[in-house]
Amino acid sequence: MTRRQALKTTALVTAAAAAVPGAMAQVPVPTPIIPFSLPPLPYGFNDLEPYIDARTMEVHYTKHHQAYVDNLNKAIAATPELTGKTIEALLTHLNSLPEKTRTAIRNHGGGHYNHSLFWQMLKKNSSLPSGAFGDDLTKTFGNLSDFKNQFSEIAVKIFGSGWAWLTHDGKGLIIETTPNQDTPLSAGHYPLLGLDVWEHAYYLKHENKRADYIGDWWSVVNWEFVTDRYAKMGS
Ligand SMILES: [Fe+2]
Repeated sequence: MTRRQALKTTALVTAAAAAVPGAMAQVPVPTPIIPFSLPPLPYGFNDLEPYIDARTMEVHYTKHHQAYVDNLNKAIAATPELTGKTIEALLTHLNSLPEKTRTAIRNHGGGHYNHSLFWQMLKKNSSLPSGAFGDDLTKTFGNLSDFKNQFSEIAVKIFGSGWAWLTHDGKGLIIETTPNQDTPLSAGHYPLLGLDVWEHAYYLKHENKRADYIGDWWSVVNWEFVTDRYAKMGS
């Protein structure tokens, strides 16, 4: 560039800056909005030993759940009109989502929602169901042991990957299942207790023995969380 050209260029840039206030200021790089993130785990990886082993917890949380979060965020980035919606709103109204990302949000958003609940539904040495929840559970299924037997029987028979749930369907408590990462929210049901029966939830410790995993899982069900969730239902 000659001196004359350089002067001309400088003059043009100066003129542009005068016309557009702030044009010469450094343009800040926008921070990308990342709508969803991995929620904190309410305990350490080894705190549910020996029922759920530390390695399974670590891989399940840091790899599987993280992947659902990452892929959900990619889907939201591809349909930015959905930014700001809660995960519950997205999953409750799947049919109103853009076709372009509906399946991704169903799978990865469902994975994020289901796992976020699942971590909270686990605790060592929880007290048993109580209050209105304890009463309604007994009225619906018999005693706690009867409920556990009915739930376990359904969970062990799920073909392939999915979840077993205790939900409220608007009329009362029911046991139901969902395939893959589908969530009861999409059927208008309120999930109270969920059991992940994907092999990634138990294979490292229990190998192919899903019934053993379910038996161990009952020892770390956080009934306090479920009782509290039932009390807050509809609020
Ligand atoms: Fe899982």
